[in-house]
This record gives sequence, C-alpha cells and structure tokens, in this order.
Amino acid sequence: MIGVILAGGSGTRLSPITKIVNKHFLPVGKYPMIYWALLKLKEANVENVLLIINEDDQPLYDKLIGDGRELGLNVTYKIQDEPLGIAHGVSLAKSFVGDSKFIVLLGDNLFQDSLKKAVSDFEKDQKVAHVFLKKVTNPIAYGIAEIDLKTNKISAIEEKPVNPKSDLCVTGIYLYDASVFRYMKQLVPSQRGELEITDLNNLLIKEGQLGYQMLNGWWIDAGTHESLYYANQLINGDRKESNHE
Ligand code: G1P
Repeated sequence: MIGVILAGGSGTRLSPITKIVNKHFLPVGKYPMIYWALLKLKEANVENVLLIINEDDQPLYDKLIGDGRELGLNVTYKIQDEPLGIAHGVSLAKSFVGDSKFIVLLGDNLFQDSLKKAVSDFEKDQKVAHVFLKKVTNPIAYGIAEIDLKTNKISAIEEKPVNPKSDLCVTGIYLYDASVFRYMKQLVPSQRGELEITDLNNLLIKEGQLGYQMLNGWWIDAGTHESLYYANQLINGDRKESNHE
C-alpha cells in the first residue's frame, strides 16, 4: 500500500497567514498540520509516501521532513503546479503508485480513527475504491453521500449540495486501486474549474465499485480559522467532538 497526501492548494480560507505560509505548515497541537497525516499513514503501516505539494514549499519540506527518515517513513515529493483540484492531484501519483493499491489523505483532514484495519482489509478487497463517512452539521460545505436504504450502498455523492440529501460527509480519506487512473480520463472540470474527487467517486458508484464505512471518532477539515482552532482542541484532548461542523 502506497500513501499519497495532498498538501498543495492556496488555503485562501485561512488568509492572510496563507499568503506567506502553506496551511499544512500551521501548528496543530505540537506539530505542523502535515505531520498528522504522515503519522496516520505510519500508524496504518503505510511507509512509502508521496507528498503532493506546491513548488514554493519544496525547500521547506526538505528542511522539515526531507526523506521522512526521522518519522520512520520514506517520503517522495511531486509538484502540483496548477490548482486543478483533488482528482488532478491524485492523478499526479500515477507513476509513483504503479500497480499498487493506495490511500489518499487530504492534508488538512484530521481524525481520530486508526486506518490500520481498513487499509489491511482493502488489500484483500475486490472493489476499486473505499471511502469514509462522518456525520456533519453543515453538509453544504462538503461532498455528501446519499445511502440507498434497501441496499445500504452509496447511491450518489453530491459536492457542496444546496439541498443536502443527507448529513453524511465523504471525508478526505480515500482508498483506491490503480485501475482508478483509467476512470480519471473521463473527468471534466467542474464549475469551480477543478477535477472533482466527487465526480470520480460517482463514476465508481455507477460501476458498483465504491465501498464505505463510517468513522467512529472525531474528524475535522482544518481549512478555516474556526475549524483550525477546533482541530487544536481536539488534538490536545480539550474537546471530544467536532460537533461545530
Ligand atoms: C474536499 C472534497 C469534498 C470533501 C472535503 C473533505 O472539499 O471536494 O468532497 O468532503 O474535501 O474535507 P474542499 O476542501 O475542496 O472544499
């Protein structure tokens, strides 16, 4: 299993600090935000990691993480030089991933659950993809999954729905096998000009290839000032639930 962490982007929702520093370097508890994704991969025994980053940040990553040895990981870098979305970021991992299965983490998603079992289960799974859902109180901000109550399967995912059909957020934790790169070729840019991970996952739903499970512990997308503050409290154990969402 290969790990892929998406850590590019402009972080405009955390402006003005993100004019001078990428959000993934901002402190959450005692570490820069990016450490938490790396530590989650390590916890799941995923040691070969590709970090997708902005070009400007390469010297800082060289200083902070380098080849990942100090964290017990093997870290390689790939530059995402265009803001073309999460699915575009994932497509940059194609040559690194080769024929392996891989796990994608969005670097600003922080969560409590260990992914160890899900990762080892997915090694044996026949499905192309697997996602992790969490109940949220502001579903208009996320990719939202609709569950078919008869089959218990995800029937569709809607990105930032105006009228959400559920409160189940598709979190930024994705398991894929290498055949997903073939599906990527069908994607076209969304209204916000990005190749959407939600569009990719909807293609997989149509093929009956998307499994899911719920996250049990807290989860937070630390991409705003308010949620970054809550992320710090959650990591420090001063807050138990990210129920502000
Ligand atoms: C992205 C995804 C969305 C997902 C969210 C999780 O949203 O597009 O489906 O629910 O991450 O953090 P974005 O951060 O691009 O607004």
